[in-house]
Amino acid sequence: MKTIVKQATEPHAYEEAAALLAAGEVVGFPTETVYGLGAVATNEEAVAKIFAAKGRPSDNPLIVHIGTMEEVECYIEEVPEKARLCMEAFWPGPLTLIMKAKEHVIAENVMAGLQTVGLRMPDNEVALTLLRKLRQPVAAPSANRSGKPSPTEAKHVYEDLQQRIPMILDGGATGIGVESTVLDVTTDVPTILRPGGVTKEMLAAIIGDVFQPTKLQAEAKETPKAPGMKYTHYAPNAPVLLIEPDAQKIIIAIEKLQADGKKVALLAMTSLRQQTANYFFSFGETKDEMAAHLYDALRACDATDADVILAATTDEDGVGAAIMNRLEKAAGNAYFK
Ligand code: TXA
Ligand code: MG
Repeated sequence: MKTIVKQATEPHAYEEAAALLAAGEVVGFPTETVYGLGAVATNEEAVAKIFAAKGRPSDNPLIVHIGTMEEVECYIEEVPEKARLCMEAFWPGPLTLIMKAKEHVIAENVMAGLQTVGLRMPDNEVALTLLRKLRQPVAAPSANRSGKPSPTEAKHVYEDLQQRIPMILDGGATGIGVESTVLDVTTDVPTILRPGGVTKEMLAAIIGDVFQPTKLQAEAKETPKAPGMKYTHYAPNAPVLLIEPDAQKIIIAIEKLQADGKKVALLAMTSLRQQTANYFFSFGETKDEMAAHLYDALRACDATDADVILAATTDEDGVGAAIMNRLEKAAGNAYFK
């Protein structure tokens, strides 16, 4: 299957993307977080094509994207008050709300056998225009091959899914760079199942108590989970080792790894650049830039012959929680020792 990449600004780009979706095909499209691979969420066969194209395990549910507030009640029986407050405060935006789904509306494979569905309204002009033209809910995971870093540019989607999907709608680089916050609002105290662009602090200011499991709690059996968080994720080909953002420690680590005959790619804030690293990819200078560059920096390593990737960490405040969650997954929790 030939994969057509169309700029959203080209004539008829939206019409073509909407027509493919309406006909039960899958289409890659940008959001404010990462690129998604969409299919109409009420069409089970179309949704099955997402799992096939990505090589995604079928027990990992998908997020449903909507273009207007009015649609919420088509899919959700009773919208909890805290969910309503979150929608008013953060939609459109990088927040997915897990709620009890109405029966027999959203295709079963979207929810992977659960009774709940994750809804979000993306804050991206191209995504919103497409959704509002189509006027149907769109199930969309990140548009990468399962296990790979999420795509933040159309060319990343092409690298991973060429010949597997008919079309990518190119809206340029995404802004935030890490996936949406997933918040379970089915319980009295809502739980963050995946940290993202809307931080715990931002949520607490609107709805009060929010539970964000620590790493230990997240691994405990009793803690509710996003089924997807158990899989290896976001991983480039070479192994990733985490290291504190400390120039001296980084210099010593590079020396030791090179003494073992390894070529080292260093991923860090610009201020931590080291001449001795075989490759250097910058995370930018602020935490927001770090989020925006995380995945393309991890992907860039795959184009080198580096044997090991040394990635500098950050603290867990604000969007740092999302960054560290993705970095630890990419590294399988391995720190340089
Ligand atoms: O920013 C984003 O959320 C991007 C863009 C494309 O919107 N999408 C995305 O989708 O990251 P995906 O499939 O890569 O991640 C969805 C996450 C998974 O961890 C999944 O387990 C969780 O959301 N999830 C989806 N539905 C759920 C549900 N009903 N209950 C619990 N977790 C759910
Ligand atoms: Mg993903």
